[in-house]
Amino acid sequence: MTKCVLVTGGAGFIGSNFIFYLLREHPENLVVCVDKLTYAGNLSTLTPVLQHPGFRFVKLDICDRDAVMKLFDQERPEAVVNFAAESHVDRSIDNPSVFLQTNVIGTSVLMDACRAYDVARFHQVSTDEVYGDLPLDRPALLFTEETPLHASSAYSASKAAADLLVMAYHRTYGLPVTISRCSNNYGPYQFPEKLIPLMIANALNDRPLPVYGQGLNVRDWLYVEDHCRAIDLILQKGRVGEVYNVGGHNEMRNIDIVRLICRELGKPESLITYVTDRKGHDLRYAINPGKIKNELGWQPQTPFGEGIRKTIQWYLANRTWWENILTGQYQRENEDICRGLGVS
Ligand code: NAD
Ligand code: TYD
Repeated sequence: MTKCVLVTGGAGFIGSNFIFYLLREHPENLVVCVDKLTYAGNLSTLTPVLQHPGFRFVKLDICDRDAVMKLFDQERPEAVVNFAAESHVDRSIDNPSVFLQTNVIGTSVLMDACRAYDVARFHQVSTDEVYGDLPLDRPALLFTEETPLHASSAYSASKAAADLLVMAYHRTYGLPVTISRCSNNYGPYQFPEKLIPLMIANALNDRPLPVYGQGLNVRDWLYVEDHCRAIDLILQKGRVGEVYNVGGHNEMRNIDIVRLICRELGKPESLITYVTDRKGHDLRYAINPGKIKNELGWQPQTPFGEGIRKTIQWYLANRTWWENILTGQYQRENEDICRGLGVS
C-alpha cells in the first residue's frame, strides 16, 4: 500500500536531498513536500521530481494552522518529517523573531495536526547546536544524547525549544515522535550563505573568503546523504520517544576547510580574509554517534575527502544553480514553477 510521507522544508538543502533519497529508496511512498519558499527555498532544485507520480509540492507556511489542518485532512500522511526551519545562525543574530515563529510555533502547529489526524510518526530534524559548544582543548569530550541543552544563538535556542516541545507532546499526548540531532552537513544544493558553498562560490568568482575570527572554530562535517540515510533508518527502526545523535567523527577547523577548497579549485590563499568574529560564536561541535550505530547500525559511508570533492565538482557542474541565487533569479523561477504547477 502507498504510504504518504509529508516532508516539510523540502525545497531547502537537506529536505530536497531527503526527497531524492526517499523516492529512490522507497518508490512505493507518496512524498508530499510542504514549503513556504522563503529566501532559502529553491523549487528549481526539485525539478527532477516535479513530474514524478509519487511526488506532490504544496506551497504552505507551517505556522498557518488552518492550511496545515486542511492539508492533513486531504493527504492523511502516515509520517511527517520536519525539516522546515530558519537555519542560518548569522540571520538569527540579526532577526531572532522569525526563528521563534517557524522553528517553535511551526513545529507545534505540525504536531497538533499529527495529533488530530493520528499520524503514526512525527520526526523532528534537529541539530547538535542545541547542546551549545565544547572546549577546543578537551578533544575527548563529545555530545551524547544526555548532554544538557545549552544553546548559544537564537537559531539553536529555537531548535532546542522545539526539541523540548516535541518531547513534551510525546509525554503529555503520547504523540509518536523521534528526534535526530545532526552535525554540520555539506553536499549538493546547500544555499551559498553557509561556510562550504559560500567559500566555493566566492573562490570561483575570485572574491574574498571571509573567515570569522581566526578560523579556529571546529565543526563535525557529515555528507548530506549520510544524514538522509540516518533519518530514514530512524523512521523505519528508531524507538518512539528517543533522540538520536548523528555525526561523522569528522572534526575540522574552518580555516583548514577553506584552505582545502582553495587547493582543490587552484585558487590562492591570499583570497582568505579574516573578518570580525560572529557574536557568541560556538567554538567546537563534536558528536558521539554511538547510540544510532549500536541500535540501528548506522555509520557514515562517505569519507570527508570523497564528499568534499564530490561537492566541489557539483558546484562546478551546476554553476547556474548557485549563480541564480546570487542574482535573485531563483525567486522569479520559483514563481514561474509555482504557476506551472498551478500552486499559488
Ligand atoms: P535550509 O535553510 O536550506 O532549508 C529550509 C527550508 O525550510 C527552505 O526550503 C524554506 O523555504 C523552508 N521553510 C522555512 N520556513 C518555513 C515555514 N514557515 N513553512 C514552510 N517552510 C519553511 O535548511 P537546511 O540546511 O536544509 O536544514 C534543514 C533542517 O535541518 C533544519 O531544521 C535545520 O535546523 C536542520 N539541520 C541542518 C544542518 C545543516 O548543517 N544545514 C545540520 C543539522 C540540522
Ligand atoms: P555555518 O555554515 O554558518 O554553520 P554553523 O554556524 O551552523 O556551524 O558556519 C560554519 C562555521 O564557519 C562557523 O564556525 C562559522 C564559520 N563561518 C565563517 O568563518 N565565515 C563565513 O562566511 C560563514 C558563513 C561561516
